[in-house]
Amino acid sequence: MPDHTRIYKQEAAQYDELISKQPELKEVIEEIQPLSGLDIVDMGAGTGRLTMVLAPEAKTIIALDASEAMLQITAERLVDACLTNWTTKVADHRKLPLDDQSADLIVSGWSMGYLANTDEPEWEQNLDMIISEIQRVLRPNGTVIIFETLGTGHETPSAPDFLKAYYAKLVDVYGFSHRWIRTDYEFDHIQQAERLTRFFFGEELADRVVEQHLVRLPECAGIWWLSPD
Ligand SMILES: C[S@@+](CC[C@H](N)C(=O)[O-])C[C@H]1O[C@@H](n2cnc3c(N)ncnc32)[C@H](O)[C@@H]1O
Repeated sequence: MPDHTRIYKQEAAQYDELISKQPELKEVIEEIQPLSGLDIVDMGAGTGRLTMVLAPEAKTIIALDASEAMLQITAERLVDACLTNWTTKVADHRKLPLDDQSADLIVSGWSMGYLANTDEPEWEQNLDMIISEIQRVLRPNGTVIIFETLGTGHETPSAPDFLKAYYAKLVDVYGFSHRWIRTDYEFDHIQQAERLTRFFFGEELADRVVEQHLVRLPECAGIWWLSPD
């Protein structure tokens, strides 16, 4: 599997090219939480997949990420869209540089799992720290929405083993609701499908993309949310 930490530091643009092939997620977020006029935080914002669809509706939005290079792309996209209600900041999920009760909505896409997967010896402590930071920063009526993978190359949910305990804890311990959606990649042609799959998901899946001519690469994502209703 490619080294994602290195990718987020050195190949942010190619990551952004990859996710530009997936569906936009504004509607699924709005079904959980109407967006207008909210103070929003995007944890692990990356190149701005969620920030870019939320910013036009938000009162303010703060994009946080461990990688400056990823946030630089988010900032460029926000400037290009002539938006001014935003801030970006390098931060770790376990220590948010934000005031208590300062956000109405916190979103996080495909990011917390890097700290909360069971290959990390401290995964459970990491998850507790992340959730406690979210609880500190959210206003009493606030909502948190988390997206994570349920399998790239899968047409129905197939959680990776190293993420199963994290997902179970969100529901069983923290009381999150849960559903899943398809987030398939619609590549322009097979060469692009192979290149971008190899870049981020590695040899095995890229070889399958070529063998099965997967210009449309299936993917499932889980959505976990906790809201006052
Ligand atoms: C798969 S990308 C997701 C980016 C974006 N949310 C999206 O949906 O495309 C994971 C992001 O999480 C960030 N990340 C990983 N570990 C982190 C941590 N401990 N604290 C904050 N951000 C982290 C990475 O730098 C990367 O930008």
